[in-house]
Amino acid sequence: MTGPAVPILECRGVSKHYGALAAVDGIDLKIAANETVGIGGPNGAGKTTFFDLISGLTAVSGGEVVFDGRPITGRQPHRLFHEGLARTFQVTSGFGSLTVLQNMLVSVVNGSGRERPGLLLTRRHRDRAMAFLAEFGLADLANDLVSNIPVIARKKLMVASAVVHEPKVLLLDEPVGGLMPREIDEFIALMNQLRAQGICIVFIEHVMRFLTAVAGRALIIHQGKLIYDGDPHGIARDETVRSVYLGSAGLASH
Ligand SMILES: Nc1ncnc2c1ncn2[C@@H]1O[C@H](COP(=O)(O)OP(=O)(O)O)[C@@H](O)[C@H]1O
Ligand SMILES: [Mg+2]
Repeated sequence: MTGPAVPILECRGVSKHYGALAAVDGIDLKIAANETVGIGGPNGAGKTTFFDLISGLTAVSGGEVVFDGRPITGRQPHRLFHEGLARTFQVTSGFGSLTVLQNMLVSVVNGSGRERPGLLLTRRHRDRAMAFLAEFGLADLANDLVSNIPVIARKKLMVASAVVHEPKVLLLDEPVGGLMPREIDEFIALMNQLRAQGICIVFIEHVMRFLTAVAGRALIIHQGKLIYDGDPHGIARDETVRSVYLGSAGLASH
């Protein structure tokens, strides 16, 4: 197993069994703080479950996850978030009955773990929330209810909420799933902006164009196992990967 000398994130034999099904089957992986890693693989391959194990949402059946030099297996997700491990979800989250600005304020005030949670909103909180909305191109929607904004804006808001406390590692589960090609381009620019800020991004994505544009390293998971770890541009030529995708919908390239 090759990999960086001092990883920010390391998985050692990480597994999850549901009855007889090995949803994640002994994944070994080291990711350095300066990497951007894209994870692909067919539906049901175990990608989301793998993120659930890393982010503490689901308990591992076996193996260990090490984050920033410390074992985190069994730690609760909200504690990990405060320690710098943030994630987003395949299905867009967010409080639909609150405005975009109110959603951002929830993240700013209650997400840090450093501030006492409460209802006292200061000018500083508001300025910080508005600055984030501007950075993500959401300032014009600040007073709209989240239930009324377009899907791409919801997806951006979810990422903005995850990065507001400057995570060391950001896990994104299918950030551009269901978006139009032009919207995917917008997201590629957003990802490159976050990379430039030095955040280690690990994302799951079917859209190959996005994966190759954003990731410096690609992983393919199939039946809970890593079957490819290398150059994103080499995926389509890899014999093992090709055999997995044969007969399925193929590698999405739009
Ligand atoms: N809570 C659960 N209980 C039972 N099986 C599950 C559960 N979560 C996921 N699975 C199964 O684990 C496999 C991997 O699912 P998932 O990680 O969602 O795949 P992917 O994100 O790659 O599409 C699938 O066969 C799925 O049905
Ligand atoms: Mg999934």
